[in-house]
Amino acid sequence: MQDWFDLAKKMDSLVLEAAATAGLEDTFTADIRTADPRFGDLQANGALPYAKRNKANPRQIGQSIVDLLEKNEDLTSKVEITLSGPGFINFKFKADFLQDWLKTFSGSEQLKKAAAHLQENETVVVDYSSPNTAKQMHIGHLRSLIIGESICKLLAFCGAKVIRDNHIGDWGTAYGRLFYAYKRFLDEENLEANPLGELERLYKLGSKLATEDEEVVKESREELVKLQSEDPEAMALWEQVNGHSIDGIKRVYELFDISFDHYLGESFYRNMVEQVYKELEESGLGEESEGAWVVFHPEHKRYATQPFMYRKSDGASNYATTDLATMLYRAEHFKASSIIIETDFRQKDHFEQLELTTQKWFEKTGRTFPKFSHVFHGTIMGENGKAMASRTGEPVLLKDLIAESIERAEKIVREKNDEKIAKGQAALAEEEIVAAAKVIGTSSIRYAELSQNRTSDYVFAWDKLLSFEGNTAPYLLYAATRIKSIFRNFEAADLENLADKASNIETDEELALARKILGFVGVLQQTVETLRPHLLCTYLFELAGAYSSFYNANKVIVPEADIQSRRLMLCQRTLDVLETGLGLLGIPTLERM
Ligand code: ARG
Repeated sequence: MQDWFDLAKKMDSLVLEAAATAGLEDTFTADIRTADPRFGDLQANGALPYAKRNKANPRQIGQSIVDLLEKNEDLTSKVEITLSGPGFINFKFKADFLQDWLKTFSGSEQLKKAAAHLQENETVVVDYSSPNTAKQMHIGHLRSLIIGESICKLLAFCGAKVIRDNHIGDWGTAYGRLFYAYKRFLDEENLEANPLGELERLYKLGSKLATEDEEVVKESREELVKLQSEDPEAMALWEQVNGHSIDGIKRVYELFDISFDHYLGESFYRNMVEQVYKELEESGLGEESEGAWVVFHPEHKRYATQPFMYRKSDGASNYATTDLATMLYRAEHFKASSIIIETDFRQKDHFEQLELTTQKWFEKTGRTFPKFSHVFHGTIMGENGKAMASRTGEPVLLKDLIAESIERAEKIVREKNDEKIAKGQAALAEEEIVAAAKVIGTSSIRYAELSQNRTSDYVFAWDKLLSFEGNTAPYLLYAATRIKSIFRNFEAADLENLADKASNIETDEELALARKILGFVGVLQQTVETLRPHLLCTYLFELAGAYSSFYNANKVIVPEADIQSRRLMLCQRTLDVLETGLGLLGIPTLERM
């Protein structure tokens, strides 16, 4: 089987072999990656860094390797080899190779098999969304949820065992005031209808009353003390409140079809903090500073003087303590080989310090430190250039955001449907309109999120994200339905075994599309390595573009059976990759829209 990864691996060893034959030292690395499409499909970039280290001419080094590779007939039958820039070695797949690949890689399962070794044997705990309890989910909660979920899907597709862990903030000081109000002013009906809304109302009410009345402050504090000392009655109430809170959070997740394996929030780790104190002190990492316990990192330019505080001067634990315990639990209990936490960029310092501290702590205690990534994101801006808010100045609630998106999508679908009717084309049935609006509405929000480089801020603009043109969900969904509509002209039997009936691809557009289709696995690799889903989005947008150029220039339905078969095969493979890729972004395709 012609496997892209096998080929990439083979390139790697062939380039290394050639480098050795050419007399280069073994510090030379091939550094195979996806190439700039103007030059080829794969590229070996190792000559430049090697030349820099050895004060040599990169072009000469590249040429010496190319000369040797050219002698390998097995290789030259598959690829054209060229040299560009400062010694980049480019490999461009020949038409036969592309054709073979298209024949072999049909369907999502095949693609999955090709990708499955990327994360083989990895167990990854992904901590995302992780909101604080008793608060409604709003636009500020969107990015972590959507990006985190896509990362989970990507990793699982690439063979990892993925554990979705929601590290909810469920053990804060807010509970005193919340309990005070909950006991006195609970509106049962509202709790049933909108749990998070009611809890948030009660918390705000408790806080307001506390500013007006000393007695409320006192009673709230007593509630909190009882909870922190794990008084059974307080714990029962806490469990009740928490249950309602998770219930409310899940209702929002359902709108996006997302569910978690675990809800191990901050409270779960409260009894592990003693172990953290003890181990950090005994290992000599922790030290007392002004009554608090901290870890300094002398090798770091900021954390040498700005320590990581894990025990406050009043003796209480904090966010750092529970996170240290969390790292330990994920490493030991889940046997995580990798831990990913997705939050906004403001927590960067916290997680950098957490990583440094845990690394040293594990090293001193003979534990293996898993790979750790803090995947962070920027802010969603409104069209006025400020952080996005609703008319009242409050952050927009996620459930309202989705409802609005679906409503807007429905309007667009109806308009398009009316156009179809006016042109005498087959119209959508009422249920189809409603179903399409739901998919387009939620997918547009998802895609707007995922298509942006996560580390940048982005402007949330309805017209843009719901547009049928440009790098948007509606554009890609529409591209998929267009391909499906071609297949509707055929009987199922006509669409089977196309590869056997197909002649070789040959037009420029066919070749360009085939190349793009084949690029999927490489893009997947890059996306998973960098944990940046926008790379996959950009690719899918380009794939749809390559398909469009192909479709506009090459008739699919033609009298020559072999040509028709190969073009239908290209349509099928495009759809496979498009559906697989969109699926990894959490976007299902539609039959019609
Ligand atoms: N609850 C936190 C917040 O709302 C995010 C938690 C992220 N995960 C963690 N292990 N600290 O900002």
